[in-house]
Amino acid sequence: MRQDRSMDEVILSAASTSPRRPVIAIDGPAGAGKSTLAAHLARRFKLLNIETGAMYRALALKAIESDFAFDEEPPLLQLAASTRIQLVPQSDGNRVQLDGTDVSRRIREPDVTSAASQISIHPRLRAWMVEQQRALGVKGGVVMEGRDIGTAVFPDAEVKIFLDASPEIRGNRRFSQVTPALQSPAVQSEEQLRADKQAIIDEMRDRDRRDRSRTESPLRPAEDAVILDSTALTLEEVLARAEEIVLAHLQPSNSITQ
Ligand code: DC
Repeated sequence: MRQDRSMDEVILSAASTSPRRPVIAIDGPAGAGKSTLAAHLARRFKLLNIETGAMYRALALKAIESDFAFDEEPPLLQLAASTRIQLVPQSDGNRVQLDGTDVSRRIREPDVTSAASQISIHPRLRAWMVEQQRALGVKGGVVMEGRDIGTAVFPDAEVKIFLDASPEIRGNRRFSQVTPALQSPAVQSEEQLRADKQAIIDEMRDRDRRDRSRTESPLRPAEDAVILDSTALTLEEVLARAEEIVLAHLQPSNSITQ
């Protein structure tokens, strides 16, 4: 307990001598566990948690509802200009408001997941998103999670973590989050369960390919990011390792003021 308190004090005192409070950038592929990690670090170090994927998802939802094609950038840019996306930080993640309506659940559905991946390849749309995200984090004091936070949104972030895991592990984890009731062998045959799991892994590979191969800010670790591979780690181990990384980067000797 005592040790925890003194660690918090280190963070806060380092932050108070800086013109900006620290930014913790968490990047990595889909299903690596970024949201859980970001929410944990935000609670642990009393920072705001900003989940940038939710912004791509919210705009994708508006594109679906407005019947816009996902592969044409100019109309999507126009749509973005007349769209209000608000992230309301909560202890377990962000509530998301699209033009004043709470869409937090809707944006997690598969059609929005697929549309968000497709619209996120457009360079000028990304530039628009990056501008909004910088404005949200301009004063620091945030854990920002996405694909390009350490490379494009906050290349000068005090802490950068690239959270990775093998596609199989990420697919398995995602599968176990999706409607656990349906996963009971009593409800579905073993064969159907295997097919469902494979479909999730395939979809994740598609999204990975799009994220890593787009021309504008492809998914890759920043040169100064710490790579945290969670393939063989438990959740508790990932959270503990990430806390160590944050503390190591925010000690006054590694000062964020330099
Ligand atoms: O993290 P997520 O699955 O909620 O992200 C949804 C989509 O948005 C995903 O396909 C990648 C894209 N995205 C992005 O390109 N850049 C970000 N900073 C965040 C998300």
